[in-house]
Amino acid sequence: MTTTPRRYHITTFGCQMNKADSERMAGILEDMGFQWSEDPNDASLILYNTCTIRDNAEQKVYSYLGRQAKRKHEQPDLTLIVAGCVAQQEGESLLRRVPELDLVMGPQHANRLKDLLETVFDGNQVVATEAINIVEDITKPRRDSTVTAWVNIIYGCNERCTYCVVPNVRGIEQSRTPEAIRAEMEELGKQGYKEITLLGQNIDAYGRDLPGVTETGRHLHTLTDLLHFVRDVPGIERIRFATSHPRYFTERLIRACHDLPKVCEHFHIPFQSGDNDILKAMARGYTHQKYRAIIDKIREYMPDAAISADAIVGFPGETEAQFENTLKLVEDIEFDLVNTAAYSPRPGTPAALWESQLSEEVKSDRLQRLNHLVGVKAGARSQRYFGRIEEVLVEDQNLKDPNQVMGRTQGNRLTFFNGDIGELKGQLVKVKITEIRPFSLTGVVI
Ligand code: SAH
Ligand code: SF4
Ligand code: F3S
Repeated sequence: MTTTPRRYHITTFGCQMNKADSERMAGILEDMGFQWSEDPNDASLILYNTCTIRDNAEQKVYSYLGRQAKRKHEQPDLTLIVAGCVAQQEGESLLRRVPELDLVMGPQHANRLKDLLETVFDGNQVVATEAINIVEDITKPRRDSTVTAWVNIIYGCNERCTYCVVPNVRGIEQSRTPEAIRAEMEELGKQGYKEITLLGQNIDAYGRDLPGVTETGRHLHTLTDLLHFVRDVPGIERIRFATSHPRYFTERLIRACHDLPKVCEHFHIPFQSGDNDILKAMARGYTHQKYRAIIDKIREYMPDAAISADAIVGFPGETEAQFENTLKLVEDIEFDLVNTAAYSPRPGTPAALWESQLSEEVKSDRLQRLNHLVGVKAGARSQRYFGRIEEVLVEDQNLKDPNQVMGRTQGNRLTFFNGDIGELKGQLVKVKITEIRPFSLTGVVI
């Protein structure tokens, strides 16, 4: 078949940053005349936007890539791209491993996809992994949802958590200006979007690389100031933000979330471990007492706030007693959700070189025990919704039941109820909660 236009496919791995980057890259490709193909095998341009946070995420990429590389031998006009965090981590060596690749591009280069592809179409194999100042968005993203949208506010991370590849692959912190962020949100509001999630790996660091300080020496641009600045964007009904770092979390921020009606009472604050020695070895910069104090403060202002977190089990040297301190923290705090992971040694990170690595058996045993407790606690926490009236922003049909729609409460609980998606998509609907599960709810419209 020689029919034009060319079709593209993107597979996205990893976190919300990658999803946001993929949406922008898709926008660029459509601007260049490419059309989306759901099936990668019908596409003549395939882009893998990759994640390397843990080894299993990285390995997944190679198996996907292997299949398409083979296809390239029968279809030489196939364009193969690896973008994202594996691309940044591996750089040139990816070309040696998979010579069929046309383009290897790090996350900072996402907005440059058009330029890079033009060089590829001129007959070059291209690696773009040098550190650059991220160019402002020039193209309209092709967003997956018409209801909720991501808006990056800060790229990169300047922390040095000893287990984490993110600073290596995402580079140093680069904040967007409040004006650029607000302009993007206003555009989204005009297009009918209702909910925005502001994104950053360490969102509390927002603005510290922007010029300007107040009379008291505080940075002029903080996340709290930004929330005030964007609180009234027309059409936007809900504002969320992620991910928070306990080290920088402030009471001022808590107050803003309490005072600004559109900012959801929903906090994602990873604790990683409940043990002070492990936290220290991770270089997290806080103790479990400080973490608990933050949660107490949030609940003082907003007793019902939804609180989620991330945790790692089996960090090098973690003893059974230290692991139990993590269980204890989860037991005490009663999170709405905890994303858990077994520690995975990552290239270029200090902890990967330590001799105190634990066995896979110990790690997976701890992971199971923690997951069990997280489920029990989330189930208990879900109970508070029973019989309550919640406002649900309808996002989509329930894939398992076409008579139902699905959306989220302002606390981010997935909620299903009977309704017609054609009529309800993008609406805020009052729903009485009639069924409780640990991580989702069912209700009826009132
Ligand atoms: N910026 C966020 C987290 C980004 S990575 C923060 O500071 O909390 C997302 C999650 O992946 C982390 O919270 C952590 O729980 C997990 N993670 C990161 N590196 C990991 C590793 N080497 N092994 C296992 N889990 C890891
Ligand atoms: Fe990784 Fe730590 Fe930065 Fe989070 S704050 S992205 S865990 S280095
Ligand atoms: Fe993965 Fe990169 Fe995100 S490593 S978790 S996609 S920042």
